[in-house]
Amino acid sequence: MEVSAPYALTAEVTHRCPLHCPYCSNPLELQKRENELSADEWLRVLDEASELGIVQVHFTGGEPLLRPDTELLIRRARELGLFTNLITSGVGATDQRIKQLAEAGLDSIQLSVQAPEAELADRIAGFKAHDLKRQAAQAIRGGGLPLHMNAVLHRHNIYLVEDIIELCVGWGAARLELANTQYYGWAFMNRRNLLPSRNQLSAAEEAYHRAKERFGKQIELIWVIPDYYAEFPKPCMGGWGKLSLTVTPDGRVLPCTAASGIKTLDFESVKERNLAWIWQDSPAFNAFRGFDWMAEPCRSCDRRFQDYGGCRCQAFLLTGDAQQTDPVCKWSPHHATVSQFVAAYSAHTPDDNELDSNSYRHSPNFSYRGR
Ligand code: SF4
Ligand code: FES
Repeated sequence: MEVSAPYALTAEVTHRCPLHCPYCSNPLELQKRENELSADEWLRVLDEASELGIVQVHFTGGEPLLRPDTELLIRRARELGLFTNLITSGVGATDQRIKQLAEAGLDSIQLSVQAPEAELADRIAGFKAHDLKRQAAQAIRGGGLPLHMNAVLHRHNIYLVEDIIELCVGWGAARLELANTQYYGWAFMNRRNLLPSRNQLSAAEEAYHRAKERFGKQIELIWVIPDYYAEFPKPCMGGWGKLSLTVTPDGRVLPCTAASGIKTLDFESVKERNLAWIWQDSPAFNAFRGFDWMAEPCRSCDRRFQDYGGCRCQAFLLTGDAQQTDPVCKWSPHHATVSQFVAAYSAHTPDDNELDSNSYRHSPNFSYRGR
């Protein structure tokens, strides 16, 4: 099969993070600092990505600003003519650091926010980050970089969606992605505590449309649908091994950031293989290309050209078989795994005390100051 060039590289330079968000989509087994690729290895990855045809790189983590060599990587990516984006919690994004990033040629920054006010935001993050984020937004704007923001929505903040939008407008964001939680990694483990109710969701959608009327001229708003409530799955990643790839902190190459959750596939590492071979020839990248791998009902469904049978990671998490139709699809033989879960937990009474429980935390033992 002819394989076209990928478009985007997600460079997960570290899994370390000062925040402990319960909806983190990073894997449950986080890589330690000693296993992270060195700067030289990342520089080689960027060279190989450019040769492969990649045009944009998203530096992310964990918190990419925990690595002092992030500017070095951005500089190399820009020298190669790649568009560079940094996805950050804002912790560590001081005036000085933003100046260095801008000097390295960074094109864009995406800053996350948890809630419209500090107390709730810090409880969700498990870290006093909200005020640092406000300062980071100022530094980014002051440094002349476009400010893009994102907020992950779940039952503990979705009712505040209009206030979140107002906050981001006030902080000077040009774009805000309102992403309903996708249930992978830590978010999958915590999904009972995160799933909003149907009523919360419809109220949030109304609030989003109201805010679009109010602020549509000042900010670009993007709504990422909550797929447990959808009839059909999303065309995840625009198709497996079609548009983009992810390199994990220890060098494994994945078709999407959540793919290490698929335990039936072996993912190759940039330490042993060239990126072009991994993209074009590795068994993991070829496992779900095209349509021949599909099981019924996808195999004979006309929507397969639109949604590629949905998400492979979700199919594996919910059925144990990544080849199955994504159970979000109402025609999946495993759809009950989603519909029964929604029926059981969407009416579950929200308990804000859940937010203070450590068993609910992404990397609860990670100490920012002690790193
Ligand atoms: Fe998509 Fe498969 Fe469902 Fe058809 S059966 S809508 S291809 S997931
Ligand atoms: Fe991995 Fe959808 S998140 S294929």
